[in-house]
Amino acid sequence: MEDIRLQKIKTAVEYIKSRIVGIKPLAGIVLGSGLGKLGDIIEEAQVIPYKEIPGFSVSTAIGHKGNLIYGKLGGQPVIAMQGRFHYYEGYPMEQVVLPIRVMALLGIRYLFVSNAAGGVNFKYKVGDLMLITDHINLLPNPLIGQNIEELGPRFPDMTRPYDKGLIARMDGIAAKLGIGLHHGVYLGSTGPTYETPAEYRFYRSAGADAVGMSTIPEVIAARHMNIPVLGISVITNEAHDDYADDYVNDGDDVVIAADAAADRMTALVIELISQLGREE
Ligand code: HPA
Repeated sequence: MEDIRLQKIKTAVEYIKSRIVGIKPLAGIVLGSGLGKLGDIIEEAQVIPYKEIPGFSVSTAIGHKGNLIYGKLGGQPVIAMQGRFHYYEGYPMEQVVLPIRVMALLGIRYLFVSNAAGGVNFKYKVGDLMLITDHINLLPNPLIGQNIEELGPRFPDMTRPYDKGLIARMDGIAAKLGIGLHHGVYLGSTGPTYETPAEYRFYRSAGADAVGMSTIPEVIAARHMNIPVLGISVITNEAHDDYADDYVNDGDDVVIAADAAADRMTALVIELISQLGREE
């Protein structure tokens, strides 16, 4: 009998195919906190709220809308998740990565993931963009449990979590558009607490440049299925040596900072997708 988890993925896929006849996305895009507005500029958009998709959860995080959007970006067909599921919301990892597996079975050739992240590297300022070149996973691994052989191997390679070709291409686009981009390591923790000063120090000493509460499970699920990934973090709060007496990390500020950077991120993603599509 077919794995019940695979059945669940296929049920969602069939539902989406019934709603969007002829769906053929080139890329899947996950829009993080405060970055959902990229979803609003998708052309010829067909929107399916998550609550209508069998098996999908409802996103409760701030700055997350909870829609699957199919349409065109840079003239190419894309499927975007306007809002994601986080482990800290209480969902099992299987739910967190379900949409990634669904997008994979819908045929995406690339996955773009975005997030709002805290700066760990002292050089990073609020509003900076960071291309994720590698990650450190401190969340539970979404592949724990019996392997779904139809999706990928038991022990997936993780030597190249983020695609070097896509990174090089994005660097070229950023230079052409005059948009600054850091290259850095993203560390994923469970949240929902922000870090203590000692944790930020610890993560810096471990080689992290930014920290967030998402993304890595999705990247692991995509790499399990051999889908090339590009990841972008928007830096929404800065690391400090010494925190002022009135300093606080605040979720609303994170969303505001991400929103302010969304136009630059959007310009980069549109150009990349348009280039990839032209080469098809
Ligand atoms: N830590 C974890 N997650 C985050 C942060 C942070 O400082 N900023 C935005 N998301």
